[in-house]
Amino acid sequence: MHTVRRVFRVNGEPFFPLGGQVHNSSGYNLSELQQAFKALEVLGGNAIEVPIYWSQIEPEEGRFDFAVLDELLEGCRSRGLRLIPLWFGTWKNGQMEYTPNWVKTAPDRFRRVVAPAGFTIPVLSSQCEESRRADERAFSALMQAIRERDAEEQTIIAVQVENEPGILGCDRDYSAESTATFHSAVPSELIALVAAHPDTPVHTAWKEAGAREGGNWPETFGWRAGEFMTAWQIARYIDSLAAAGKAIHNVPMTINVWLGEGGHRLAGDYPSGGAVTRVLDLFKWLTPHIDIIAPDIYSAATESYLFECRHYAREDNPFFVPESGSRGPNARTMFYALGTFDAIGYFCFGVESMLDEEGMLRPESREVAESFRVAREAIPLLLKYQGTGRIHTVVQEEHAMGQYLEVGDYLAFVRYADSDMPYPRGYLYPRRGGPEGFDRARGLIIQTGEREFYLAGGPFRVTFKRKPAPDAELTPSMAASLMNEDLPDFCLVEEGGFDAQGDWKARHWRNGDEITGGLWVDVRSGLVRAQLTA
Ligand code: DGJ
Repeated sequence: MHTVRRVFRVNGEPFFPLGGQVHNSSGYNLSELQQAFKALEVLGGNAIEVPIYWSQIEPEEGRFDFAVLDELLEGCRSRGLRLIPLWFGTWKNGQMEYTPNWVKTAPDRFRRVVAPAGFTIPVLSSQCEESRRADERAFSALMQAIRERDAEEQTIIAVQVENEPGILGCDRDYSAESTATFHSAVPSELIALVAAHPDTPVHTAWKEAGAREGGNWPETFGWRAGEFMTAWQIARYIDSLAAAGKAIHNVPMTINVWLGEGGHRLAGDYPSGGAVTRVLDLFKWLTPHIDIIAPDIYSAATESYLFECRHYAREDNPFFVPESGSRGPNARTMFYALGTFDAIGYFCFGVESMLDEEGMLRPESREVAESFRVAREAIPLLLKYQGTGRIHTVVQEEHAMGQYLEVGDYLAFVRYADSDMPYPRGYLYPRRGGPEGFDRARGLIIQTGEREFYLAGGPFRVTFKRKPAPDAELTPSMAASLMNEDLPDFCLVEEGGFDAQGDWKARHWRNGDEITGGLWVDVRSGLVRAQLTA
């Protein structure tokens, strides 16, 4: 049991954003966004993430134009969507692609990172105060514009500061100035923080390098020193922007991360100095104005997906996924984030690509879209039961047939739909035909009372067996009942959903054949609510 910090709120009430992020260049005007809005509808999303480009809002230095923000707010409001703008400023995927031309064409003023070979790369140096000031001015102007337009309505529920910051290309800036910093003493306040936090990767690196109290960066952190120094520099740069922005309009601020855990192991293959797991603690210490550091999770393999969840879901870091796959295994793995790791919001990337030119859902995105719709229906339950230990994740891993769960006083056996599996009564979906062509199961089982459960997702079915009392003798009839999976013992089984007020509305009642063989759920059945007799 732990408290889930609900960073996202609307009028003071917890809000669970679920939806899509648009492609990088879909935010220039409203007409580009039409397909994304359509896709959001198909997904059942309640929120959208759209970039705001520094190059667009400040085309000439000091001249700001927020027409695009007006359009965006109008587009979201007319559809009842909440918005998270993504500030594409100094960094976009460890590069400077969305900075204005007056920045790009003045490299002497807005200094770039120098690669080890001596040439500059298209990444602004975090050590250039002129760049930081210019970005802060633009970001502050954006926050002012948001405040003027949205302080009342609160369409904007958070702002992402920069996008996947870091240096793409090398571990640190190799300019003479930065190299001198690299060979100077590590700031003592950083050493003090590292020393005070054992069991962090940054502490481990420090210990491996000899746990020195004084020393330059490589002496203090060993072979990853370039990345550590860059993280120190970038975290402070971003936090200064967030502080300035919050002073103008106080909404939650986030950073997203290009993860360094995939195939890319050397900093610079992924943006060096971004908040990857090994420097996440350092970022948390140095960014008090950032509410969430959020991983962009595209991992298809469950092991990597879980690794990423585990590292970013921390007491001091509410778990939020701002980007994930719009097709493939994310249809299943997302339930680990929602059910096991208490994600407080979830988005897939490139949402408009889920539809084809005719606006129809592409077959390869169907499962993800269905999972999002399931998640949307479950939001009232997520808001209420995350952190209580009452939400159980169902995910059918490859070749798996079922899952055993301990749910309160019950043992639950989850069987995945599988055409090879014999069904005791011949069918799984009494109202929808045969068991052929099933997707892999995914979803949630949520215990809302001693004997009450909600099922979301599918296709799977569950049988519940009450754990015998510790001193109970297993009589032959109890044993028989424990073995008998077909024995339905429900007071109530309903299909339905929650209305806008959060009240449960049953749409269909099950009994007889429909409750024999376990409690089944399918992505199209809506939520299933069941009360056991005992
Ligand atoms: C992560 C970035 O943050 C997005 O802007 C986009 O480039 C995606 N990757 C593409 O997969």
